[in-house]
Formats: sequence, C-alpha cells, structure tokens
Amino acid sequence: MKTTPLFKLLLLFSCVTSSLFAQQNPRVISDFNADWRFILGNHTGASAKVYADKNWRSLNLPHDWSIEGKFSKDHPATVGGGALPGGTGWYRKTFTIPATAKGKYIAIDFDGVYRNSEVWINGHFLGKRPNGYIAFRYELSPYLVYGGKNTIAVKVDNSKQPNSRWYSGSGIYRDVKLITLNTTHVDQWGTFVTTPVVTAAQAQVKVQIKLKSAIKATQQVTVKTQIFDRDNKLAGSSSKIIALSLSGNLTDQINVKQPNLWSDVNPYLYTVQTQLLIKGIVVDQYTSSLGIRSFSFDADKGFVLNGKELKIRGVCNHHDLGALGAAFNVRAAERQLEMLKAMGCNGIRTSHNPPASALLDLCDRMGFIVMDEAFDLWAKKKNDFDYHLDWAKWHKKDLEDQILRDRNHASVFIWSIGNEIQEQWGTGADTAGRVIARELAGIVRKLDTTRPITTANNDVALYNNLIQSGATDIIGYNYNHDKWKDFHKTYPGKKLIATETTSALQTRGNYDMPSDSARVWPTAWDKPLLTGNADFSCSAYDNCYAPWGSSHEQTLKAFENDPVVSGMFVWTGFDYLGEPTPYVWPARSSYFGIIDIAGFPKDVYYLYQSVWTIKPVLHIFPHWNWKADQMIDVWAYYSQADEVELYLNGKSLGKKTKQGQDMKVTWRVKYEAGEIKAVSRKNGQPVLEQVIHTAGKAAKLMLVADRSKISADGKDLSFITVKVLDSEGNLVPDADQLIHFKVEGDAKLEGVDNGSPISHESFKGKQHKAFNGLALAIVKAGKTASAIKLTATSEGLDSESITIHLESTDLK
Ligand code: GAL
Repeated sequence: MKTTPLFKLLLLFSCVTSSLFAQQNPRVISDFNADWRFILGNHTGASAKVYADKNWRSLNLPHDWSIEGKFSKDHPATVGGGALPGGTGWYRKTFTIPATAKGKYIAIDFDGVYRNSEVWINGHFLGKRPNGYIAFRYELSPYLVYGGKNTIAVKVDNSKQPNSRWYSGSGIYRDVKLITLNTTHVDQWGTFVTTPVVTAAQAQVKVQIKLKSAIKATQQVTVKTQIFDRDNKLAGSSSKIIALSLSGNLTDQINVKQPNLWSDVNPYLYTVQTQLLIKGIVVDQYTSSLGIRSFSFDADKGFVLNGKELKIRGVCNHHDLGALGAAFNVRAAERQLEMLKAMGCNGIRTSHNPPASALLDLCDRMGFIVMDEAFDLWAKKKNDFDYHLDWAKWHKKDLEDQILRDRNHASVFIWSIGNEIQEQWGTGADTAGRVIARELAGIVRKLDTTRPITTANNDVALYNNLIQSGATDIIGYNYNHDKWKDFHKTYPGKKLIATETTSALQTRGNYDMPSDSARVWPTAWDKPLLTGNADFSCSAYDNCYAPWGSSHEQTLKAFENDPVVSGMFVWTGFDYLGEPTPYVWPARSSYFGIIDIAGFPKDVYYLYQSVWTIKPVLHIFPHWNWKADQMIDVWAYYSQADEVELYLNGKSLGKKTKQGQDMKVTWRVKYEAGEIKAVSRKNGQPVLEQVIHTAGKAAKLMLVADRSKISADGKDLSFITVKVLDSEGNLVPDADQLIHFKVEGDAKLEGVDNGSPISHESFKGKQHKAFNGLALAIVKAGKTASAIKLTATSEGLDSESITIHLESTDLK
C-alpha cells in the first residue's frame, strides 16, 4: 500500500492514541466536525436549545458558504474580496453526552470561524469572537445535560463587508473538537516546550506546564514528562510533584542525548508526553510535539540553523484552497506544500493571519520555516468593516492566544506582528505606530522569547514608526529589493528579512511578446490599468509585474547574491481568490502565484526549481502552436548542465549557456509547425531533453490523479488533472472545452476548477471548462473501503475514466 508520510503519521498517531485510550488516557479529543445543521440568514431564536432545524441543510465541517455562491462584482466583499457572497449563517449540532461524563471537564475547541462567531450551548450564551482567524475554547460542562441531548448553536456574521483585502470565506471553516478531561488536567495550550541549549551531544529540553483543577483542596499531583523519539523510544524523562489547588505552574528540564536535529531537510520530531498522576492514577496525558533545533539571525550572515547558514527560500500564501474556498482540508494543504517543497521552497509566511493549526502540523513534519503573522492592520483601518473595529477590545487576547497556540511548533521561527500597517506612517504627535509596536512586542515576549519578532513594512524609510519603535528584532522589507544593498548604511548592525517580494503577474499558458520588454501593470499603485490584454491575461514569460514589485528573476538574483538578506517570501506561492491586480472585474482572483489557483504550475515554477534544488531541471516554453513565420521567443530554465541546445524540426538553433548571473537562456525563433526540442548537456553528455509538438484539434481527454489510493476516512482527496489532447496525445494549449464529471461509488465531487482568474463558473458544479488545456476535479473519499470511478466527458472528444481506491483506515 502506498501511503503518504502524513497518512503514516496519522495512522501511527491513531494507533498510539487508541492503544492509550484502551489503557489509560483519560484525555478524550473527539473530532466534532460531523453532522451539523446549517442555514443562511438571520433566524431569531435559533440560539435556543429547542428549535426547528430539521429542514436545515445537513453538512460536515469545515465549511465555507461563500465558495458555494455565485460570483458577482456587486457583492459587498467587492472584487478585491473575491466577488463572492458573505452574509450571516447559523450552525446547530445536537449530540448526546453520557451520564458517566458527569463531573468531567468538557469543552469545545474552534480552530477558526470567519467571523463574529457567537456560540450557545443549550441556550446558554458562551461568548463572541470577532477575529475570524483565531482559535478559541468554551467550557461546556456546567451547562450540559448528562445522559441526554444537548445542542450547540453558532451564529456567524460576515455580513458587514468589505472587511478583508482578500477572500476570507464565511463560516466554521476550520476544525472543531470536543475535549473531555478529568477536572485536574493540563490547561488549554498548557505546555511550552523549548530547547535552551542544543549541541550535537545533548539538548536541554525545558517543559513549562500549566495545570488546572476544579478542586480547591490541595492535591499532590505527580507530573511525569517523557520524551519519545520518532520510533517511540524513550529519549529522556523526568518527574516532579506539585501541590495543586485550582491552578499551578511547573517547569521541568530533561536532557536528550545526541539529539536528532530538526531542519528543513530533516524535519525530525520528538513527542513530549506529560502525564498527571494522583495517587498513582493517571488523570491526564497531554502530548506536545518537539523539534530540537538552534537558530539565530545575524546582521551579516542572515539566517543560521543548527550552526549552518541557510537562506529561507519562502513564499507567502493566503489561506484559501482554491475551489475548496477557505474550508480547511489537510490533504489540500499537504498537496500545496508538497508542490512548494519540490520547487525548493523551505519557508511559508502565513499572510496575513494565524493559519489553521493543522497547517503548522504539516510544516513541522515537512520541514518549512514559518513566519506566523498576526495582523494585516492595527487600529487604523484598511477597509470599512475590518478588524480595526475590534482592535481596542480584542488585539491583546487575540495575539496572546495565537502565541500560546503556536509556540510549540518546530516550524514557527518568526512572529510577524503586522503587515503594511498604516501606523508605520505618522509624524509629529502621531506616534501610535511606535506605541502599538512596543505593546505588541511586549505581549509576544511575555509568552515567548525564543523567536524573533518582525513587521512587514512597505515603506522602509527611517521615519517608519514601526522600525523606529526599536521593538522588533528583525527589520522586514516588503519589496524594495533595490534598497537591500544599502541596508546596513540605513540600518547599521540590524538584521534584514524580505518579508514580501516580487508581485509578478502571470496567467498560466498566456505569452506576450516580445518577451524581453517588461509590462509594469498598472504603472503606479494608485492608477488604474489603462492598457492590459483584452482577455484579462498577464504574460507567463517573466515579463509582467506590479510597480511595487519586480520580475521573479530580478528579485531572486538579488536575493541569492546578498548574504545579508536572511530570507525572502515571494508574493505568492499560489494564486488566491480576490485581489485580481492588475485587473478589476471580470477578474476575481490573483495573478501573483508561482502556481495557479487550481494547483497547475506556471513556467516560473521551474525557475525556482532550477535555482533552489539540486534536481536537474530543463523547462522550455511557450507551447508550439503559433502562426506561420511569427517570431517566437523560446525560454529555457535549466540546471545541472552546462548548456542547452534548441532544435526546430531537427535543425539546431544553437547552444546557449547562462551568462553572468542570468537564470535562463532564450532564443528568438521564426515559427514553423512541427516540433521544438531542447537538450541540456553537461560535459557534452545529454542530461535532459524536452520536446513540444504543435498540437492538432482537440480529440480526447486524459485524467491524471495526484494519488490513486486515498484513505476511506470521509476527508481525504484525490486531485485529478484533466488534459485536453489531440489525437497524437499532445496538449492542446488553448483548449477550453466544457467537461462534465461523474463520480460513481462512495465519493463526492468536492470541487472543480481550471486555474483561470476570470472564470465565473461555480467551483461546486458537476462541470467546468478547461482553461489553456487543463481542468481539475477534486474527489473526496467516503468512508467505505472500495474503488470509485471518475468519468470526464466533453462533446466531440473521447471521454476518459479513472479509478481511485479508497483504502480502509483506523481513522474511520
Ligand atoms: C502587498 C500586500 C499584500 C498584497 C500584495 C500584492 O503590498 O502586503 O497583501 O496586497 O501587496 O502585490
């Protein structure tokens, strides 16, 4: 059976937890995502325990209702917000709590609800949480009916828009869990595991534990901490006794000999198990993950991980998952990270908000260096209904909760307390930027001093209040790559990170020539685009970018040649919904991605792969369907070779070698139909060859699954690429046929897409047009181990089917 590392880990985790439950673990964490009722709109009385919700739609979480809506430029979210509807929605779930649970501590954990959630249990109001990206818990125990039915009701209000500069999604779009504990337990986010000393011989692991109890009378609680390695072997342990009354804190220290160090290429994780024992009986068992690593940022050398200099080669991403919207899915995020890893990317900036916890779990396991960002704005607004309205009341709590939730993640290396914050400007008496920066940095440092703090600044001049506050550890530059070389003149002795770069604009498969002239679209940030293409495309040669950015190659060159810049985060890894710069409607999603919104790489993906990995790369483009005698620019990204030779219909067009710091070679070729071929060679020996044929008429469909075996767990996904081919099997580069999908068996079509930023077709339909030869179908597994079939048909083309195997899992 072929399994992904994630699947193996989950399986292992589930075996461990189930065997622990069988033995003794009194901590029960249940997936609480199934069987909710949902309705759109305002429903007075729906917070009550008894309410007629029988006819509401039944669904499983995570759920995003906006992605199910129709695109329109008139939605209050605006085109910048993705041109999809917001509104208000209600969720209700009725569940039974056994009589035996009486006396337990029972709570519900939400990992994120967009936004303004209000929660009731059996009609009792538990609280409101405006921030749409923050995790929160409510204790339910005092209000539950034991041995009977209970109802939880959640109102989500995303009606006041615009409240975001990108697509937010709406609803309970991340995981929900039910937690059942003994009344004496480790508190929520109740451990803080750090490694104050790390050498090859030994690591000192410090575990700070926060205990909670409902019992006032002092109890003697033994706190036993054990560290297990990846093979479940004990790597160290310790035990302490605390006299506990209601709450308490305890710090323990354990040495791990010859630690296996966590890094981007060896994301080795240990498990820290904290057991609480009263009179020899385990009353709680809490698991934290641990990556042992040492790191620093240096003014001259950049980033140093485990004693070695390492460049953080990162991307920024928003949280939507294309056709799935904001509804978080572990496999969808894992697929994105796999693609980025294969490109050589080792860093993620969670722009501009705390991510799903499960994303950080993936980054821990897959070896990404994460900049975990808190805010896109502080007290001054960017949009009328955004978080500035909640700032005064909530920013402290929200930031604290983010740090508490995320500080045990090995992948988190940097806290960003804000992106392009308005308060960076302000002269004279307006020093709010300095005051708030100091306050926020203080909040972070109270909870974590092991990671540096930064802000992402678009204006990097000396007067910037955030930089002047002196509150941050690293100065974050958004764009401004031409100012990197003067950084130490401007900020002597300071450390630099390129928090955001590039903002190049590309549509997969569209090419504007001549390729060596840049299109800066629009000409200035505050001017509309007056030129542009009639089909709302941007060129996929690396020759189109926003005025505050650059081509990919420009910034990449500067970065790779400047040791002072510790890391860079390209805007963005994936296209996302909303912010369709340089266009407005009918465009509705971004053009910035290295990979399009459906997950199809643009050509520039191979530029990064050729520079950031040691894998031999040869990638030539564009396609080979042009008009006779047209002059066509052919580009090649290559690596692990000395030269590339290009052939047109068998005739050599010459060999080329990258000059100076160039990252590509190019030819200008008079088009003739047939075949364009490139061969890369090292020491005269061929390394790779790539051929592109002129495609004929579309004749058939081809289906390629990213995984043909997935888990029958009701959540796993197979991403199936549809290619429109001619009769010879060549991709038809402008094919846009309408494709119909049919799923047979215990699975569901979860989403359809094609990567076009201007398509207004539904992501939730049973059909979708191809775009530049490709389309995507996302199939979600049911819970029966079985074979399922996806069939794609299109008028006038040979149809195609693919079988996906759903394999049984202990997670069911
Ligand atoms: C940056 C901003 C991002 C995004 C990007 C587009 O200035 O931080 O959120 O708007 O521009 O280029």
